[in-house]
Amino acid sequence: MRKEVLFISFIIIFIFISIYSFINKDFFPNNLVQVIESQDSLPGGHFVLKDQNNQVFDSAASQKLMLIYFGFTYCPDVCPTTLIKVSDIIDRLKEDSKEINSIFITVDPERDTPEILSDYVSAFHEDIIGLTGTKNEIDKVAEDWGVYYQKEILDGEEDYTMNHLDIIFLANANGEFIDYFPPKIQSVLIVEKIRNIINR
Ligand code: NI
Repeated sequence: MRKEVLFISFIIIFIFISIYSFINKDFFPNNLVQVIESQDSLPGGHFVLKDQNNQVFDSAASQKLMLIYFGFTYCPDVCPTTLIKVSDIIDRLKEDSKEINSIFITVDPERDTPEILSDYVSAFHEDIIGLTGTKNEIDKVAEDWGVYYQKEILDGEEDYTMNHLDIIFLANANGEFIDYFPPKIQSVLIVEKIRNIINR
């Protein structure tokens, strides 16, 4: 009798774990888990890059929380969707949005000049900061943040695209990793998380 009870308990626990994993699968994209697990420590770090107004942006000088997203302006799909989400987050935060810098860092510095970034980010929200730099500078920031990206030449064309990790990072004023969000997460959940930190 006791063996049967034990067996049934195991089955029930197994079912619960399966359901939980299935519901939360979007929160644990395999590639990011690998990225984070492959690091000796969590991703993060300050950066000095050039903003869309051709001014030097030093994350250490801003003294604000940061929402950081890596992408590129020629991105046909995921980047625009994510930046619409970031805009929505800024709007929902209202006054609290002054406590946070929303940052878009290009992984395609070859094409994304400050001028191109300026047109691009302002089309989504006037408060989004677009950053670019030299290839080496971008490599360094991407490495610090565990962000994979790679150029891919499109078949039969001179054009290329950039494959890149689609994750929104939340960092504190020290440039340290707080959390990450997959693209599918609802903006209200990110807003809630940010508010909790601001009002802590
Ligand atoms: Ni993209």
